[in-house]
Amino acid sequence: MQDKIDKTLKEAHNFEVENPSDLEKFRIRFLGKKGIIPELFDEFKNLPHSEKKETGKILNELKKTVQVKIVESARKLSVKHENQISIDLTLPAEQLPAGSRHPISVVRKEIIEIFSRIGFTVSDGPEIEDDWHVFSALNFPSEHPARDMQDTFFIFKNPDILLRTHTSSVQVRVMNSTRPPIRTISPGRVFRNEAISARSHCIFHQIEGLYVDENVSFADLKQTLQFFAKELFGEDTKIRLRPSFFPFTEPSGEMDVSCSCKGEGCKLCKNTGWLEVLGCGMVDPNVLRDCNIDPEKYTGFAFGLGIERIALLKYDIKDIRLYFENDVRFLNQFSAII
Ligand code: PHE
Repeated sequence: MQDKIDKTLKEAHNFEVENPSDLEKFRIRFLGKKGIIPELFDEFKNLPHSEKKETGKILNELKKTVQVKIVESARKLSVKHENQISIDLTLPAEQLPAGSRHPISVVRKEIIEIFSRIGFTVSDGPEIEDDWHVFSALNFPSEHPARDMQDTFFIFKNPDILLRTHTSSVQVRVMNSTRPPIRTISPGRVFRNEAISARSHCIFHQIEGLYVDENVSFADLKQTLQFFAKELFGEDTKIRLRPSFFPFTEPSGEMDVSCSCKGEGCKLCKNTGWLEVLGCGMVDPNVLRDCNIDPEKYTGFAFGLGIERIALLKYDIKDIRLYFENDVRFLNQFSAII
């Protein structure tokens, strides 16, 4: 019996396993039902008691050696073998809880859809910008105090490279690379060096709108904004425009929408009945000229709104910081909105 075991051990060592079919042959030869090792175990049963201890030990070692060779060869050949836990692919998967869209994404999508219905395309631009696209081309003279309206993050203390403070930089890029008629909106992230509070954050999202063509008038701007407000906040919504100032628009305005309390007075509108929603105006001729568009021939309007603010008004969210904390208890509340 000892001899047989030695011979089997040698054979197992010398057996060359080069492919999966060799491996299977090896397994059958040594561990299969009629294989050598089960046969040896049968013989083992009939041994006299005195020999059992010694022989049992080497027989078990032989079995182990063969098993190790199977596992190792299988690993080398990257095939599954009997000793590996097999996965039943037919079992149903564990259910993962469904996620939900972030309220900023929900509102951004809705606004894009509203404007695409009236022919606006979507444009994109970089978040790291240069002074020219964010300020100079938009009629902010250098050293002009209007630059302080937007506290800027500069990169490496370089006054020319900065994080865009508004998406108006994208209108400059669009006007530089295409010719009128231009009808586009640009959603994106913007950055301002402001203290974080319930009302403001140093990172937020804007959507810029730009329309440049022959004979574009303030009436077109008003009509477009009215359509937008009714689509977003409901058919009964009224708008009002108040004069304002932006260096890149002349005249400039701010648009308010009527509050859903209908002037009865509520906290959201601070009892005024109106909610401030966006800035807008007619593109300043200087801006058109800087972008090589003839201001004698073309006119245009632009507007810019904050997505956080719109979502805040739409869903009565009290604190802007909630958007960035990713607390699932907050986010789950939007799971019904697609
Ligand atoms: N860029 C302005 C802001 O961030 C908004 C705006 C855009 C105003 C376009 C007028 C026209 O405050």
